[in-house]
Amino acid sequence: MKLGWLTDIHLNFLNEDGIQSFLSNFQSRTVDGWLISGDIGEATNIVYFLQRIADVSDKPVYFVLGNHDYYHGSLIETTRVVMELADRESDLVWLTWAGVQVLAPGLALVGDDGWGDGRIGRPYDTPVRLNDFVAIGELRGHHRKQLVEKLNQLGDEAAGRLTPKLKAAAKENDQVVVVTHVPPFAGAAWHEGRPSDDDWVPWFSCKAIGDALLDCAANYPEVNFLVVCGHTHGSGEYSPCSNLKVMTGGAEYGAPRISKILNLP
Ligand SMILES: [Fe+2]
Repeated sequence: MKLGWLTDIHLNFLNEDGIQSFLSNFQSRTVDGWLISGDIGEATNIVYFLQRIADVSDKPVYFVLGNHDYYHGSLIETTRVVMELADRESDLVWLTWAGVQVLAPGLALVGDDGWGDGRIGRPYDTPVRLNDFVAIGELRGHHRKQLVEKLNQLGDEAAGRLTPKLKAAAKENDQVVVVTHVPPFAGAAWHEGRPSDDDWVPWFSCKAIGDALLDCAANYPEVNFLVVCGHTHGSGEYSPCSNLKVMTGGAEYGAPRISKILNLP
């Protein structure tokens, strides 16, 4: 089973020639399916870009959204329009709202957007402010304490959706692939060659999903868990325990690429 993995492709930073060149490269690859771990465009064009991807792909595209995909819109409205699109296009599977995907005997795929949930590092004191806090309707206009509470809630909701799917997948399979946007551990929040520091990591890690993964990996020691994520634009691998590996994909604005072709047994 060959799965092509892309992350943080930010197609809104390309002109039409760039988009066409990206799509023809995408179309020329022979894979059994695609994984996209978020930050595809912005709220104003995410449906357009997903539709163009679906139009050139003859294989399923399993995706999650990232924080940028909600920029200049809201979480609730973007969710509504992307869900409508995924309902219409059978090859587009938004893992956040889909159940366990069994890709082959013993091989399952699950996913969730995740969210930088402000639980690791210095969420209250860091001078780092993401554009998220002004560009996404539900995150705008909050004092820091309210903002961190909202981010905690988004992380908890993500883990609440993912946990039952993780458990169901682990019960029936020996390899579980997890797609999420935000690195679930501080050690996986790679940026410029090293894990993010305490000022960045509150927004660059989703502890709630990390805790769910650790719990599931401990309860199903015979199952291998592979997580693919992005968000921090730095590439690296991190293994918090022997049956759980996180791969974070690198990215550069204006130069989308295929992070990896995963060959899964
Ligand atoms: Fe992101």
